[in-house]
Amino acid sequence: MKYFIASDHAGVDFKVFVKELFTQKGYEIVDMGPETKERVDYPDFASKVCQEVQKDENSKGILICGTGIGMSMAANKFDGIRAAHCHNEYSAKMAREHNDANILCLGERVTGLGMVEEIIESWLTHSFEGGRHAGRVEKINALATMGSCRV
Ligand code: RB5
Repeated sequence: MKYFIASDHAGVDFKVFVKELFTQKGYEIVDMGPETKERVDYPDFASKVCQEVQKDENSKGILICGTGIGMSMAANKFDGIRAAHCHNEYSAKMAREHNDANILCLGERVTGLGMVEEIIESWLTHSFEGGRHAGRVEKINALATMGSCRV
């Protein structure tokens, strides 16, 4: 499994922390920017990660902004992307087990570093349960064809 990570200016510190965490745990994680805290627009960075995840079914993404809200809104515009904005361990577990989320969104201004570590651990150690959830995820995927998704 390959991971892609990006943030906006409000998520750079978390990005560094999360990247280090993934590396320590032995995961491959690719940083899509930004490198500085100069102001940027979060949809541009959501777009970079989502396009990579769209290309490779065997990959997942982490997107970080101030609240996690803008990143999740932007990411969920992409066909095949199921982005979950998680504030705690339980949400991260459910996002993987029930929703097969392929992007985890975090908010640096609203979530503490200790909590982020738990969220990541939970995200990494739970997987999609399939079964009754599979049809629901299929229905989510089908929704993308109902409107016009611009990427
Ligand atoms: C940037 O000020 C802030 O709006 C952004 O990081 C994010 O929280 C948007 O949802």
